Amino acid sequence: MRIGHIPLANRLFAAPMAGVTDRPFRQLCKRLGAGYAVSEMVTSRRDLWVSLKTSRRTDHDGEEAPIAVQIAGTDASMMAEAAAYNIDRGAQIIDINMGCPAKKVCNKWAGSALMQDEPLALSIIEAVVAQCAPRRVPVTLKMRTGWCQGERNAVRIARAAESAGVAMVAVHGRTREQGYKGCAEYDTIAAVKSRVGIPVVANGDIDSPEKAREVLAATGADAIMIGRAAQGRPWIFREIAHFLEHGEHLPAPEVSQAKAWLLEHLHDHYGLYGEFSGVRSARKHIGWAVRGLPGGEAFRAEMNLLQTCDAQLRSLADWFDKLAQTHRRLPHATAAANEPFIEVRA
Ligand SMILES: Cc1cc2nc3c(=O)[nH]c(=O)nc-3n(C[C@H](O)[C@H](O)[C@H](O)COP(=O)(O)O)c2cc1C
Repeated sequence: MRIGHIPLANRLFAAPMAGVTDRPFRQLCKRLGAGYAVSEMVTSRRDLWVSLKTSRRTDHDGEEAPIAVQIAGTDASMMAEAAAYNIDRGAQIIDINMGCPAKKVCNKWAGSALMQDEPLALSIIEAVVAQCAPRRVPVTLKMRTGWCQGERNAVRIARAAESAGVAMVAVHGRTREQGYKGCAEYDTIAAVKSRVGIPVVANGDIDSPEKAREVLAATGADAIMIGRAAQGRPWIFREIAHFLEHGEHLPAPEVSQAKAWLLEHLHDHYGLYGEFSGVRSARKHIGWAVRGLPGGEAFRAEMNLLQTCDAQLRSLADWFDKLAQTHRRLPHATAAANEPFIEVRA
């Protein structure tokens, strides 16, 4: 699996998720089996590049290659400038966001809203490719199946993107109108795959090794991309990798192992955000990690009251130690753990 000239470790990708796939989380996913992870979206608005939020999103210190940055916006020249800005800060692949339904950029709807305006979408793609190609930076596109049920134009956009020089397309099997409702469909992704020569990535509702195998078979896609199912369960990548290779399940992680991964993640997380923001933004990751586990809900409520990194680290370590007294491996989470997380934060 390659994106342009850049080889990848495997065909299991972590999906970009604003407010989730920051550098520490991407690194965790890569350590646990993801071959590729795309950054949260970075706005094309130059005036926001100095903001703390954007400067954290463009910080790739110590990140394992390839560094892929997603940019979002509605103006071709601003998007080209954003591509250049991110390449200067280490991006080796630039991803254009035409997949996210909920973000307002430049006072206009961007992301998947661009699928409704094909000429504008194409002008953005062309401008970004023109900026990236001389620097040997591949451009990729993340999109949905279309704008609405009656206007599923993913195949048309993918073909135009390929002609314009895009190196890979990822398709979330829902329309923009659907948001996160209903189920992802894979026929449109299969249609895209059959009509372009560049690698195609299938995305949407992949939450188990079996589902990964099913989606790969149904779409013929070159890779799969996993978002919500990796929240609190970043080891899903190695579980899928093992299943695809050997046809059998990897045992659940030992409780002590999961504890070590999560503590390591928290240390990285505090390193990026500092104590005040770090403690607050870590709560969601901890909440996802204990979701559905015995006593997880009560622990989450208590942990949300803690105000320091030390207290958070200690309480998480104690909680996992207690769980380890009754379970050597992580027990199966209850159904609540599988409820999708659908809040999309800018
Ligand atoms: C919290 C959250 C934030 C997201 N942010 C982005 C984003 O910044 N860019 C993007 O292209 N898609 C974004 N998405 C969409 C995901 O990349 C993915 O396409 C979607 O969640 C479907 O995959 P899944 O079923 O594996 O979660 C986001 C999704 C979630 C849940």
